[in-house]
Amino acid sequence: MTATEKPATTTNSGIPVASDEHSLTVGPQGPIALHDHYLIEKMAQFNRERVPERVVHAKGSGAFGNLEITDDVSAYTCADFLQPGKKTEMLARFSTVAGEQGSPDTWRDPRGFALKFYTEHGNYDLVGNNTPVFFVRDPMKFQDFIRSQKRMPDSGLRDHNMQWDFWTLSPESAHQVTWLMGDRGIPRTFRNMDGFGSHTYMWINKEGERFWVKYHFKTRQGIECLTQEEADELAGSAPDAHRKDLFESIRDGNYPQWDLEVQIMPLADAENYRVNPFDLTKVWSQKDYPRKHVGVMTLDRNPENFFAQVEQAAFEPSNVVPGIGFSPDKMLLGRVFSYADTHRYRIGVNYTQLPVNAPKVPVHSYSKDGNMRYAYNAPAEPVYAPNSYGGPHANPEAAGPYAGWDTAGEMVREAYVQHPEDDDFRQAGTLVREVMDDDQRERLVNNVVGHLPDGVTEPVLERAFEYWKNIDPEIGKRIEDGIRTA
Ligand code: HEM
Repeated sequence: MTATEKPATTTNSGIPVASDEHSLTVGPQGPIALHDHYLIEKMAQFNRERVPERVVHAKGSGAFGNLEITDDVSAYTCADFLQPGKKTEMLARFSTVAGEQGSPDTWRDPRGFALKFYTEHGNYDLVGNNTPVFFVRDPMKFQDFIRSQKRMPDSGLRDHNMQWDFWTLSPESAHQVTWLMGDRGIPRTFRNMDGFGSHTYMWINKEGERFWVKYHFKTRQGIECLTQEEADELAGSAPDAHRKDLFESIRDGNYPQWDLEVQIMPLADAENYRVNPFDLTKVWSQKDYPRKHVGVMTLDRNPENFFAQVEQAAFEPSNVVPGIGFSPDKMLLGRVFSYADTHRYRIGVNYTQLPVNAPKVPVHSYSKDGNMRYAYNAPAEPVYAPNSYGGPHANPEAAGPYAGWDTAGEMVREAYVQHPEDDDFRQAGTLVREVMDDDQRERLVNNVVGHLPDGVTEPVLERAFEYWKNIDPEIGKRIEDGIRTA
């Protein structure tokens, strides 16, 4: 075939087809023949083009790149891909949380910051956000929280009353809500925001010493945010603004970069730290645990196919590699179950075989069969373990050092153990008073004063004033005055 010659269209089974344009009819105006299986294939395939969208974080954009380790953190972790000089291929997906597939990129919402590292010990997924904290601290409340941020059952409309009802009845949300209502609630682009692992994770070095760790990805593009007015305008004129910005930046060779930094806490500090270090609604003071530089993440390759490489990408906090572990953060432990479960439903049980999700190392698992199974083991390989015939066998050494923690006690349904500075409003107040400047505080007040009157009614409204007064009496008063005198 010459370069100018086009290949013949075929069916999905590779059989040449007679026409791209005309269905098979009995005479030019007669009925369509049922045995036009090519027409039926086209319609049937089309009818099945979508997989269910993600139940949260449905609107997102992705790109490939690498993580290069520039510093030596081997004293804290033996994770192979975190050793000095290592460069690991990766995928990132940024997203909004509550909006659906077609929703505007510029709605006020946290942004997802999901990363998949294709390491030599299997895939490591760090599925974080652009904020270091979250709205709730127990996975039991996550589903209710998300429903309160989505749509009403009757009208199908978003509803601010429902949002504030949940938030004000869940004071642990104060820190994240303050963050959300401030400037960082609407980043200017995905490139202009930081990323956080948010949870506390465990790192283990080759001597088996364990540390608690928090991940920060600091944008090299600088933090930039949109005002509410700018965001509202873009929501109408350029709803895919952030997707376009990411794609075009990378296409034009303007590769976004983030510095990976970590806060490290010796294991023994956790018990007496001023906040419970596993509570996802709290940050660790950077004076107590300064950030250490680890490496640089660069995104330099766009997807070739959005559906295959971004829509079907499956990130899961359960993917941790040797040298990294979980922590007693209950949210993290809940998430370790949830993601693989939703992937089995959303994409299918064999989702790890899709190229974007498959590790770059050989897989020797005993899983088999199921819908759309593509890979299979050698015919002589046993399908069970233990076996006497040379199938794979677990190797505790390859699995890495012990990544657990001491725990004992009766089974209970209780809040976390309280530490001295664990109240729900203190860190939110510090954010308002010590991190924000006057202009930022002014925009925070205006954002809340703009948000509350949009459908929030008593008793939720009164509770919202109390909520803000608990965060900071002056800010609370300004918000109340702004609404009562409007
Ligand atoms: C997506 C569950 C908390 C970050 C998702 C999805 C589910 C889920 C079911 C859809 C995944 C998919 O269809 O591919 C949960 C549960 C949580 C929780 C049960 C709490 C118990 C969090 C937290 C963060 C987070 C605390 C950030 C710190 C994300 C991100 C995505 C996501 C970034 C999108 C991943 C992607 O780009 O594909 N979550 N989530 N989630 N979640 Fe969570």
